[in-house]
Amino acid sequence: TVKAVIFDLDGVITDTAHLHFDAWRATAAEVGITIDEAFNDGLKGISRMESLQRILRHGGKEQAFNVDECRALAQRKNARYVQSLASLNEDALLPGIRDLLAELRLAKVKIGLASVSLNAPRIMQALGIVPAFDFCADAARVARSKPDPAIFLAACQGLGVRPEAAIGIEDAQAGVDAINAAGMLSVGIGHALHNADLHLATTTELTWHCLSGLWARTRG
Ligand code: G6P
Ligand code: MG
Repeated sequence: TVKAVIFDLDGVITDTAHLHFDAWRATAAEVGITIDEAFNDGLKGISRMESLQRILRHGGKEQAFNVDECRALAQRKNARYVQSLASLNEDALLPGIRDLLAELRLAKVKIGLASVSLNAPRIMQALGIVPAFDFCADAARVARSKPDPAIFLAACQGLGVRPEAAIGIEDAQAGVDAINAAGMLSVGIGHALHNADLHLATTTELTWHCLSGLWARTRG
C-alpha cells in the first residue's frame, strides 16, 4: 500500500502564488521589467534566486546586475512577500486539505512536505499544521530547485519511505516533473499540467478515497 503522501506547499496547501506574484511584480517594476500572470505561472516551484534570474532574462537584463545587486533585489522581493504573509492564519488552508491530513493520519500514511520555499516553516506555523506533518524537507539544504527531484527525495528519505511507495501532490509543472523524476506517483492540481498520474481541478477533490484509488489502479 501507499506509505507516504508528500505535499508541495504554495498552491496545494495554501494559495500564496498570487502573493509571490505581487512581490515579484513590484520588484521587477523597480528595475523596469514588466511581468504578467502567465509568466508568473512558470515561476511556480522555482527557487527565489532562480526566479530572479528568469525575470531578469525575461526583461533582457540578465547581465545588468552583479551578485550583490541580485541578492539585494531578492531580499527586497522577500521582504514584500513576508509582509504580505502577516495576516496568514488557519483560514488560508485550501479546501479539503485539513480533512485529507486527518484521513491520512487515520490510514497511518506518513505525511511530508517538499517545498523549495525558505519561508515554508513560518507559513506552516501560521497555518497551524506543523503537528500534522511527520517530516518537512529543509529547502535550505537542497541546492537544486524543481524540476530536479532533490526536494522530494529529501522528503522520502526523512520519512524513511522509498519514492516508489509515495505519492506527491503539486500545482506546478516543474513540481509534477520533479515528482515523476523521483519515481513517485504524481497528482497535479489545476489546469494545464502535463504528465501527472492523476489530474484534479481543485483541492476539493483531493481525498484519501481518490489517492488510494490511484494507488490501486497503478501500483496495487
Ligand atoms: C515555491 C513557490 C515559488 C517560490 C519558491 C521560493 O516554490 O512556488 O513561487 O519562488 O517557493 O520561495 P521563497 O519563499 O523561498 O522565496
Ligand atoms: Mg506550488
